Amino acid sequence: MRYLATLYSLLCLATLAFGSGRSIIRSRQATVSLDSIQSNGLQNIVTWDKYSFFINGKRLMLFGGEVHPYRLPVASLYLDVFQKIKSTGMNVVSFYVFWGILEPKRGEISFEGFRNLQPFFDAAKKAGIYLVARPGPYINAETTAGGFPGWGSYTAGLWRTSNQSYFDAYTGYIKTVGQKIADNQITKGGPVILVQSENEYSSWKSPYAEDKQYEQRLKQAFIDVGITVPITTNDAHPNGHYTSVDVWGYDSYPNNFDCSHPTTWSAAAVPENFWSAHLQYTPNIPNAVYEFQGGAFDGWGGSGYETCAILTGSDFERGMGLSIISGWSFSDMILSLLQERNCHVYDLFESLHGVYTSYDYGSAITEDRRLRDKYYELKLIGQFLAVSPAYLTMRPQNIGSSQGKFTGNQALKTTQLLDVVGNQTAFYVVRQTDASLNSAQKYTLTVSTSIGNVIIPSIGGSLTLNGKDSKIHLVDYLAGTTALVYSSAEISTWETIDGKDVILLYGGTGELHETAIKTSSTPTVVSGSGTIKTKSLSGGVLAIQYITSGQTVVQLGNTVLYLLDRANAYQFWSLQADTTSIIVKGGYLLRSAKVEGGTLALTGDLNSTTSFEIIAPSAASQKVTFNGVNLEISKTAYGTLTAKKSVTLPDVKIPDLTTLTWKKADSLPEISTNYSDAAWTTVNRTSSINPTAPTTPVVLYAGEYGYHTGNILWRAHFTATGSETAFKVKVSGGAAFAHSVWLDSTFLGSWEGDVLHANYEGTYSFPAGRLTQGSAHVITILQDHMGYEEDGQSASDKFKSPRGILSYSFEGSSGTKIDSWKVTGNLGGENYIDKTRGPLNEGGLYAERQGWHLPGFDDASWVAGKPTEGLASAGVAFFRTSFDLNVPVGVDYPISIAATNSTTNPYYRAQFYVNGYQFGKYINSIGPQKVFPVPQGILNYQGTNTLAISLWAAKATGARLDTLKLQLTAKIESAMQSIILQPAPAWSQRKGAY
Ligand code: GAL
Repeated sequence: MRYLATLYSLLCLATLAFGSGRSIIRSRQATVSLDSIQSNGLQNIVTWDKYSFFINGKRLMLFGGEVHPYRLPVASLYLDVFQKIKSTGMNVVSFYVFWGILEPKRGEISFEGFRNLQPFFDAAKKAGIYLVARPGPYINAETTAGGFPGWGSYTAGLWRTSNQSYFDAYTGYIKTVGQKIADNQITKGGPVILVQSENEYSSWKSPYAEDKQYEQRLKQAFIDVGITVPITTNDAHPNGHYTSVDVWGYDSYPNNFDCSHPTTWSAAAVPENFWSAHLQYTPNIPNAVYEFQGGAFDGWGGSGYETCAILTGSDFERGMGLSIISGWSFSDMILSLLQERNCHVYDLFESLHGVYTSYDYGSAITEDRRLRDKYYELKLIGQFLAVSPAYLTMRPQNIGSSQGKFTGNQALKTTQLLDVVGNQTAFYVVRQTDASLNSAQKYTLTVSTSIGNVIIPSIGGSLTLNGKDSKIHLVDYLAGTTALVYSSAEISTWETIDGKDVILLYGGTGELHETAIKTSSTPTVVSGSGTIKTKSLSGGVLAIQYITSGQTVVQLGNTVLYLLDRANAYQFWSLQADTTSIIVKGGYLLRSAKVEGGTLALTGDLNSTTSFEIIAPSAASQKVTFNGVNLEISKTAYGTLTAKKSVTLPDVKIPDLTTLTWKKADSLPEISTNYSDAAWTTVNRTSSINPTAPTTPVVLYAGEYGYHTGNILWRAHFTATGSETAFKVKVSGGAAFAHSVWLDSTFLGSWEGDVLHANYEGTYSFPAGRLTQGSAHVITILQDHMGYEEDGQSASDKFKSPRGILSYSFEGSSGTKIDSWKVTGNLGGENYIDKTRGPLNEGGLYAERQGWHLPGFDDASWVAGKPTEGLASAGVAFFRTSFDLNVPVGVDYPISIAATNSTTNPYYRAQFYVNGYQFGKYINSIGPQKVFPVPQGILNYQGTNTLAISLWAAKATGARLDTLKLQLTAKIESAMQSIILQPAPAWSQRKGAY
């Protein structure tokens, strides 16, 4: 690490008087000189000091979210997601790169189809979003094998260590992907500002410990391939692992992942050790939280993403998010408050705590790109940080000693943050001592200000903090030329427009707030029904007291105050048109503002007829257009503009899936008498490096034969002794997996799956009298592969946990031998066929091997049959239909496939394919997911679409889908860029398909 400037002087910590109750704590002697600006010596565009990052010499708060491009396989939708993020005030997105889908066959790396990263880089750049690349090689991410390729399961050596064979395994990937990232670094005009090495390299299976050689080599591998921007890492907790990167940081998930109890918070959800850990490990770099909970994953049998959205909703963003920004821990960089992790199936299932198809995460932006309420709450935080540079050089003064401080109320904790560089502004972050409580607390805040000690509110009354809430009270905050001596109401944003400081202040509905301003003017309510009380304080300061309810506008001199309740504050957007700042109220989403020759051109999305209030320089808003349509504008009494945009959301015809023509075919010919498995892979390995030592004569782990995903089929040929009564078999597939067993064409039984079992031993009785001595038979086993386990604990090699058959025996006949075993998964295994849709799109069902799921397959010879009619016995049926969509352009109408729960014959699982892309796995008896979003771009909104469904009935009584439909999840007029269809190659005869 090289210091660009070495001037360094001591931070004189403020003298803190933490007495009981109302201690006055404010020191103006906290002075800090220019601390050293540091770089990694490889470039000087992205630098840092102990307070924050700098980009091109400009200090800035990096505040952002997480997006996984591989979970949204429509490249032309990336810009939509980035623009939505940008409009919250955030400026950065981190993203994982999934090694396993890029190098499914060792040595053959492909960026084909949705795996191409370049459109992601380009869209970020276009939206003005910086990127933090997280290429692993290990990523976790609730992704099969935590991102490792399937072939890792049979590759020797402990992974996530300095083991040479692991090094050899990842080197090619790091070189190739590192090069792509390097080409898109900010130093080359791209958006990438940081690269994360490894992921939560934070725990090790005994007797192994942190492997510094691995850390060093991996960091060097990135540098060798041309990564010059700073290298970071995210310790799972602030425990000081892998601090040799340039800017170390850590993760935090204060509300955990139990979405089934979405309102249950632990009393002390976040340990209060983050700041001290930062000081202990890396005091000279910014305190970076690289993952902060933006949502939660949900597993098979879980409670659904809407419950995760509550667990991590607006309350969480305020109660936890604000606190982490400024209170408990204080952070200079936060990623992931928004965890927009669009997902599609691609079998990205973790096991054990396996997650289902969608990875919506309950985040601010839904999987189908709608904005949740928590998006608007996040916008309040993002916009505030974007206009509050003082935050960047603040230091918390009383971490660990905050209970009752400044308020005298022991039920509250208050952290004082002082801008130790600007030496003027202070934030007081108030939160509940017991984070789990829902009850409100009354308090007053005693602080030191530029006019001396003040008790807020000074006009009388008290402030209120609701349960699970948190607030940032401001002291000596400068908004343009307006000096706010204090404000209990929070700022959502402010701008100086036409010489007036327009300041948006908000609080909860009905809350009493007070803002004190240095002014000689008399405030007047110019709009709204709210009233104000005033009191002159010393030093020419006027305190204004009000209730935040609706919207009230107050003018005093060159200052305009918008006094807002939260619902109103949500509606404001802060937009930048080149050098012109604009504030607009109204609209589901505003994306951009542009000024050309006196015309203000706004773009955005509306879900109903919308009234706008536009606060823009008058020279820049002589005319206003919205999405290109001229708005009729009028002026308010206090000079802002109002306009109305009517919205008609066109009706579209969504095909009724039940009335379409469906075709049906059997997808389990493998159990017919004369089926030949000659083309299948012969199971012939007799040893394995797998940590789970095989117990069978030949290794029955599908991964050993190149099958790492989807359905796996096994065939065991044997000659009976005549005394066999049953076949006992232990199959491993990952949580919620199932297996079914046949003797020749006779169904013996199934394990239908549950959320607990990653493997299951079943005993399947043979029909009496069938196995006569010397008769030849075949046992067919169909199983699910739900993805490999993650490898969260380094050196555990847990991701190698086999999928396949762990043991078997014949009851009643210990001497029966299997003459030969055969296996198949997806056609081609690691030489997967569909390079466009990638290696996880297809499994081993007959239909998939033949490509029946693809558009263009000729099903004319198939019988008629609907998935809602299903199949009458155990087995697998495959269904196909097609339908037309005609959705006009200029709207965003997300579409999902929705099923309902079948209560009779519940044991079945279905996979949905849209234009050949696998987009859902529905397990009727486990759930919870019944609605499967399919993005536009996979769905052709102006043309014909192919829908294919596999249905595996696990019981002799068969199964059918209860109902099946396409549904719109929103109707929005949208300025999103037009969608380019992802390539969806049509069926062609597959060479060697069996
Ligand atoms: C973190 C990990 C992420 C993801 C997250 C939970 O520990 O770094 O990859 O798994 O937890 O969603």
